[in-house]
Amino acid sequence: MSAETHAGEGAGTHTRPDAEQAEGTGTPGAVSGGAPDASGTSYIAQFRVWRGDIDGGGLEDFKVEVFEGEVVLDIVHRLQATQAPDLAVRWNCKAGKCGSCSAEINGRPRLLCMTRMSIFDRSEIITITPLRAFPVVRDLVTNVNYNYAKAREIPAFVPPQGLGPGEYRMQQEDVGRSQEFRKCIECFLCQDTCHVVRDHEENKQAFAGPRFLMRVAELDMHPLDAAEESGLDRKTTAQDEHGLGYCNITKCCTDVCPEGIKITDNALIPLKERVADRKYDPIVWLGNKIRRRT
Ligand code: SF4
Ligand code: SF4
Ligand code: FES
Repeated sequence: MSAETHAGEGAGTHTRPDAEQAEGTGTPGAVSGGAPDASGTSYIAQFRVWRGDIDGGGLEDFKVEVFEGEVVLDIVHRLQATQAPDLAVRWNCKAGKCGSCSAEINGRPRLLCMTRMSIFDRSEIITITPLRAFPVVRDLVTNVNYNYAKAREIPAFVPPQGLGPGEYRMQQEDVGRSQEFRKCIECFLCQDTCHVVRDHEENKQAFAGPRFLMRVAELDMHPLDAAEESGLDRKTTAQDEHGLGYCNITKCCTDVCPEGIKITDNALIPLKERVADRKYDPIVWLGNKIRRRT
């Protein structure tokens, strides 16, 4: 049995669900799993789930039994098993490592499998909506192709000339920096929350988003990357091609990262500093001026 229940990928736009403003459109659903058990280990919670596709949709209300220790993905699975067998959701590992189950819970981008039910008040209505920055495919599944397109635009690591695999030597500090960025599980929660694209579809062409600007930063700070020797200036492309200038370091991306990567402090701000150093370095300025005259 596939661990993933979702419709095929598709492109386009949709009527954007807004968890904080939209009202539920359905009547409260039947309670699944029976009445709360007398031992107090379960209770009935109220859920509001966005259902629909690229042509539009709305929020539907459900009441679901919740057991101690459960996460929101458990509840979505119980909904599929009892009340909404065709509810589409993308997931794979249920361990916070595959990055598939990204959605918005009460308007905040989160992993469904890492969000414990115990963080919510038992009486509150829990609203689950698809990632708002990307076009919906069906129900909670969105088309995240934007991210793959941005990934393809970033030139890969350029191996140093004259060194073979196994001959690379780096300071532990440099290794540690890369390792932090490499914890990324590509859940795209940071991409979803960034205001540059969240409400501005028109910025998507020019802006790679925090996850991929972090990739540029990682490569630009990599002591063995030989991009410059091969004529590729990662600092200039970060600014001119990947939209670094759009980022105004609000840190919202860092706030939602399930891996706790300090995207803004450790990647975006250092990259901005490196771009500024390059631009305003008097030696570089003089060199460019001389080159333009010759
Ligand atoms: S810090 Fe930059 S990339 Fe991150 S959410 Fe804010 S504007 Fe977007
Ligand atoms: S940087 Fe964090 S939030 Fe962004 S895609 Fe990677 S793991 Fe997800
Ligand atoms: S199912 Fe893999 S991160 Fe949630």
